[in-house]
Amino acid sequence: MKNIVILISGGGSNMAAIVRAAQREDWERKFGARIAAVMSNKATAGGLAFAKEQGIATAVLDHKAFESREAFDTALMAKIDHYDTPDAPVLVVLAGFMRILTPGFAAHYAGRLTNIHPSLLPAFPGLHTHQRAIEAGCKFAGATVHLVTAELDHGPILQQAVVPVLPDDDADTLAARVLTQEHRIYPQALRNLLSK
Ligand code: GAR
Repeated sequence: MKNIVILISGGGSNMAAIVRAAQREDWERKFGARIAAVMSNKATAGGLAFAKEQGIATAVLDHKAFESREAFDTALMAKIDHYDTPDAPVLVVLAGFMRILTPGFAAHYAGRLTNIHPSLLPAFPGLHTHQRAIEAGCKFAGATVHLVTAELDHGPILQQAVVPVLPDDDADTLAARVLTQEHRIYPQALRNLLSK
């Protein structure tokens, strides 16, 4: 069985969309894959309650308890690698995980570490993507699922979705329109990866 570990920091709506897709489409039977654990760097992450309700193992690793980025990532890798199985390396899915990862972390999970970012990469890496898209006068915005490399918000693109930017949009209304698409393309990207 291939284990999937999802990392979150907040509401976890992308994580929930992935969990629901895996249930609805029976990823265990179809791909021999299961969502094994949801981990967060914040104990207050809203998504943890949803994961528990679904019977998924959860873990919290508070980054503030570590003296360096490297020390946190090393501890996180140990927790994740608990889910490696001899027949299948764990797939690590960043879903609103608001931490910059070390190059060592990215290298350790190369090819099996995905992220979703709320812009049409390579435009607008980093934070405040929706506000920046509006200020730039973009007529279209969107979201990107990509494989994670050492460089922040870069890496091979797996899936994208495009939405219009409407004349009276603010960052919140645009974010909501993009998020709906995120919930569609993240499960889709993972399905594609798992079926390879
Ligand atoms: C999503 O919009 C995701 O694309 C974004 O955070 C939100 C998390 O929402 N991620 C990033 O900005 C990563 N740099 P969720 O917790 O409801 O899935």
